[in-house]
Amino acid sequence: MQTEAPRINIDRLVNRIDTLAGIGAVAGGGVCRLALSDEDRKGRDLVARWMRDLGLAVTTDRIGNLVGIRSGSEACPPVLTGSHIDTVATGGRYDGSLGVLAGLEVIATLNEAGITTRKPLGVAFFTNEEGARFAPDMMGSGVHQGFLDLEEMLDIRGIDGRRVGDALAEIGYAGTEPVGSFRADSYLELHVEQGPVLEQEGFTIGAVEGVQGISWTEYRLTGTSNHAGTTPMHLRRDAGYVAAAVAVEARRLSKEMGGSQVATVGLTELKPNLVNVIAAEALLTLDLRNTDEKLLQAAEARLNEAIKRFASEEGVGVSSRRLARFEPVMFAPDMINLVEDTARRLGHSVKRLPSGAGHDAQMFAPNCPTGMIFVPSQGGISHNVAEYTAPEDIRAGADVLLQALLSRAG
Ligand code: GLV
Ligand code: MN
Ligand code: MN
Repeated sequence: MQTEAPRINIDRLVNRIDTLAGIGAVAGGGVCRLALSDEDRKGRDLVARWMRDLGLAVTTDRIGNLVGIRSGSEACPPVLTGSHIDTVATGGRYDGSLGVLAGLEVIATLNEAGITTRKPLGVAFFTNEEGARFAPDMMGSGVHQGFLDLEEMLDIRGIDGRRVGDALAEIGYAGTEPVGSFRADSYLELHVEQGPVLEQEGFTIGAVEGVQGISWTEYRLTGTSNHAGTTPMHLRRDAGYVAAAVAVEARRLSKEMGGSQVATVGLTELKPNLVNVIAAEALLTLDLRNTDEKLLQAAEARLNEAIKRFASEEGVGVSSRRLARFEPVMFAPDMINLVEDTARRLGHSVKRLPSGAGHDAQMFAPNCPTGMIFVPSQGGISHNVAEYTAPEDIRAGADVLLQALLSRAG
């Protein structure tokens, strides 16, 4: 006799999302839980306690990733799900947290239903997915999957000058488990779309095809500060002007290239930053993304060349530092099909689409069958305190996650 498939408990899941969002809460319903901050520590303590309460065997590795494993009837590599619980400084309550807490909801549902899977199931949260305090982003998953070097990452300094290794130790999450001490059977992550496509086109579930490539560079421009009233325009070495020209050129070039090319100058700092003083120094970051590696390389080369030209015309010095570089990845066709078929089976509309945002899943994609499930973001808003996903959509996504994990785990 066919028994009814278990369904997740949406009230319990939303309650966990709201409780976690209380840690580092900021005005407007958002969250500031920068990686390895005191708020991150409190969030980690809470989620780790929930993991243990659900009976998971929890380990912390040397970059601070937490993995909770639920045994299967066979000892073999686990089917893994998860995401991150760090946020940008102006973050919402769903980015990352949804994937981790939906993973816990899957475990709670299986515990209640008394279901033992053949393969073990794991729920993980990875250190510093956002990269907002320490670059690069996807740091924990990148080290876990062998794409970033552990010692190099421990030595990275954040925007506040703190070293990753010291901050990890300070919050008590410098674990002892060797990184990547296990390989996953497969990895499936639920995440909010963070863009407008699903909502605008009326779909409940996104079957993610892959993640676009990401290139982050920091430029430091050095000119000469001087009097804003007395210095003729042709005699200026204005670092602020060059920074502004770079931002304008990044926008112009990405529009000219079209397709999936996007460009953002999200951080600028001028020194001395005063109304009547020409800026002697400018610091800026350039975030370039494209689903096509060759086009991404072309955008990098063209902007780099433009920056050098603007600087040389203004007599301004330039130095640059690469903050992050990840090539585009495609997810495994089997995993994309699994998400699509599961969504349809549960009666949800589903669309295949690429991810514009970076995700821990992209680090797993080259090493094991990997996929992602998206649910709509209201107004396409994310990295903003107003980020919102309706409980009905969360329920749909978490049910697809549950059934897809059960298919993988047997
Ligand atoms: C990470 O969330 C990114 O896409 O910047
Ligand atoms: Mn995220
Ligand atoms: Mn994010």
